[in-house]
Amino acid sequence: MRRRFIAGNWKMFNGPAATSEFMSSFVSKLTASEDIISNIDEGKMEVAVFAPFISLDTAVKCKNDSPLIIGAQNMHWEKSGAFTGEVSGEMLKELGCTHVIIGHSERRHIFHETSEDLHKKLQSAIQESLISVFCVGELLQDRESGSTFDVIREQLMAGLKAMDGKDVAEKIIVAYEPVWAIGTGKTASSEDAQEVCAFIRKLLADTFGEGVSEKTILLYGGSVKPENTASILAMKDIDGVLVGGASLKPDSFLAITKAAVR
Ligand code: PGA
Repeated sequence: MRRRFIAGNWKMFNGPAATSEFMSSFVSKLTASEDIISNIDEGKMEVAVFAPFISLDTAVKCKNDSPLIIGAQNMHWEKSGAFTGEVSGEMLKELGCTHVIIGHSERRHIFHETSEDLHKKLQSAIQESLISVFCVGELLQDRESGSTFDVIREQLMAGLKAMDGKDVAEKIIVAYEPVWAIGTGKTASSEDAQEVCAFIRKLLADTFGEGVSEKTILLYGGSVKPENTASILAMKDIDGVLVGGASLKPDSFLAITKAAVR
C-alpha cells in the first residue's frame, strides 16, 4: 500500500515569527493526535510543510523531534555559484530540509521556469537525496481545448526524461495541480482528478514499468479543504494532497491531516 502524503505549500506567507506561532500550535496538536501519529509510525502517512526560504530554519528548529517533514518551495540546480538570489539543494539540506517542491505552476507561469530548468532541478535534488514534489497541471484554456492530457504528458516526460526508475519511485512525488483550481475555490471534481492521476500512473508504467508506477506517490492540489479531502483521497490513484491556502492555519491543516488517517 502506498503511503499518504499530506503537504502544505505556504507560498509567500508565514515569515519566521508566523512560522514559529504556527509550529507551536500545529506540532503540539499533531503529536497529541494518536491516530495521526500511529499512521505515521506505521509508515502509512507523512505530513509536510513547505515554508518560504527564510522560515525554514525556524520551522526545522520548532518541529523538535516530531515527525513533521520540512521542505522548501524551490531550489537552484547548481550546488553554488554566481546566481544572485538563488538557493541550492545542498544549502537546503544543510538547514535540515528533506523535501522540495519543483515546478509549481506559479514558478512555471509567473517566473517562466521551463521544462528543461525543472528537469535540471529534479536531477540535482536526486543527487542531494532530497525528495521532490514535482508539479504538473494544465491551464483552463488547455482543459477547454481538450489538450489536458497532452500538456500533462509533455510536462511529466520532460521533467523525468532519462531518469532511473528507482529514483522516480523513491525520490519523486508527482502532484497534479490544475492551474484553474489553484487559489480559485474551484476544485477539480474527484473524478476529474482521478482521471488525470490514472493517466499519469499509466505514463509512468509505460515509461518506467509497472513496479515504478505502482510505487510512485501521486497528489492532487487545487482548493483542497478539510471538507473535500476525504472524497479526493477516496480515489484509487490519489495518494495525498498538496494544500495551499488551507495549510496556513494549524486547525484547518490538522483537519485535512485527520481526514487522511486510515
Ligand atoms: P490552493 O493552492 O490550495 O490555495 O488552491 C494549492 C497549491 O498551489 O499548491
